[in-house]
Amino acid sequence: MFGSKTVEIFKEIETPFYYYDLALLRQTLDKYTAELKKYKYHAHYALKANANSRILSIVKSYGFGADCVSGNEVKLALDSGFDPSMTVYAGVGKSDKEIKIALEGNIFSFNCESIPEIQIIDQIAGSMGKKASISLRINPDIDAHTHKYITTGRSQDKFGISHWMFDDVIHALNSCKNIHFAGLHFHVGSQITDYNVFKMLALRVNEIVARFEEKEMRVENINLGGGLGVDYKNPDENPISDFETYFSIINKNLRQEPYQQVHFEPGRAIVCQCGTLISRVLYVKVGRGKKFAILDAGMNDLIRPALYQAVHKIENLTSNGRKMRYDVVGPICESSDRFVKNLLLPETKRGDIMAIRSAGAYGQVMAMRYNQKDIAPEYYSE
Ligand code: LLP
Repeated sequence: MFGSKTVEIFKEIETPFYYYDLALLRQTLDKYTAELKKYKYHAHYALKANANSRILSIVKSYGFGADCVSGNEVKLALDSGFDPSMTVYAGVGKSDKEIKIALEGNIFSFNCESIPEIQIIDQIAGSMGKKASISLRINPDIDAHTHKYITTGRSQDKFGISHWMFDDVIHALNSCKNIHFAGLHFHVGSQITDYNVFKMLALRVNEIVARFEEKEMRVENINLGGGLGVDYKNPDENPISDFETYFSIINKNLRQEPYQQVHFEPGRAIVCQCGTLISRVLYVKVGRGKKFAILDAGMNDLIRPALYQAVHKIENLTSNGRKMRYDVVGPICESSDRFVKNLLLPETKRGDIMAIRSAGAYGQVMAMRYNQKDIAPEYYSE
C-alpha cells in the first residue's frame, strides 16, 4: 500500500502520527456520491468519525450535509462551512446550552430521542422566538449483529423511541407550539457487514412510517443513519465499501412517496480506509513463550482494539525478515493496551516503522491524553 518513497518520508518523521491518503478519500467520495445521486438521496457526514479540518473540507466539497452529536460538533460543522439546512443533530443527552447553539444555527433537524427532550427543545425554542425542526429517532428493535458497544437499535439500548411510546410521543408533539415535525430517524449500529440488516431496517421503516402517517403525522424525511462497515482485514483488496449493493438494497426495500426525502449519515465508510496510524517499534521484549513488539503508539492514539476488541491490519514497513509471531502492544500502563496477539510479522526490531491500517474512522478523534501522552499529529498524502 505504501510506496518506498512514502516509507522513506515516514522514517524522517517523529512517530506516532496519523497519515491520510486524500486520493483514496476522494475516490471513496466519488463512488458514494455517484450512488447517492442515482436515487436522489441525501447524505450528512457523521463528524464523530473524523473531524479533521482538511477531511471536513474535502467531504463538504462533495455536497454533504453534517450529522452531529454535540453542540461543539454543530459549531464545528457550521464554522467549517457545512450548510445549516443540511445539518442534523442527534444524541440522547442534549444539554440546554447545546440545544441553544443548534437553534441559533438554524439547523435542519434535531433527531430527538425522548419525550422530555422534545418538551425542553419546545420550551427553549419558544423562549428564543424560534421554531425547532425535529425528527424522531426511532428504536426499531433490530439487532445489527455487530459489537455490543456499537449496536444501537435493539429495544434494550438507550437510543431512540420504542414503538410502545408512539402514541404518547405523537400526543406530546401535538401539544408543542414551537416544534415542526420533519420526519423519522433511525441508526441501528456501526460496522454492519451483514446487508440483510439494512433490508430488515428498510422493511421495518416502511411499517413505522405507515403507523405515523395513519395518525396524521406526515413523514417528509426518512433518515436511515449510517453504519455501513468496511473491510478491516483486507484494506488493500477492498479499500472502498460496496455502496452499490448497499443503496440498491435500500432502494429495493424502502417505500418512498414523492413527497419524501431519504437521508443517510455515513461516517466510517467514508473515512476509515484513508487513514493509517504510523508508529515506531521501541523495543522487542521476550516474554514467556512469546515476543512483544512494543510500539510508541498505544490505546491513547487508537482505542478501538482495547474498547471493542477490534483487529486492525498491522504491517512492518521496514523489514523483510523471516516471519515470527508477536503480540503488538503499546506503551500505556494498562494490559488492554494491546493491538493484536500472535501476529505473524517479518522479524521486527527497534526502529522499524509499523502501519496500523484502517484508522481514519474513530481513530485520532477518539485519542486521549491518558498517561499525559501527546495527541498524535496528522499528515496528508498531499
Ligand atoms: N448516525 C448516528 C446517529 C450515529 O450514532 C453514528 C455512529 C453514525 C451516524 C455513523 O455511523 P458509521 O457510518 O460511522 O457506522 N467508535 C465506534 C463507532 C461508534 C459509532 C457511533 N455512532 C468504533 O470505533 O467502532
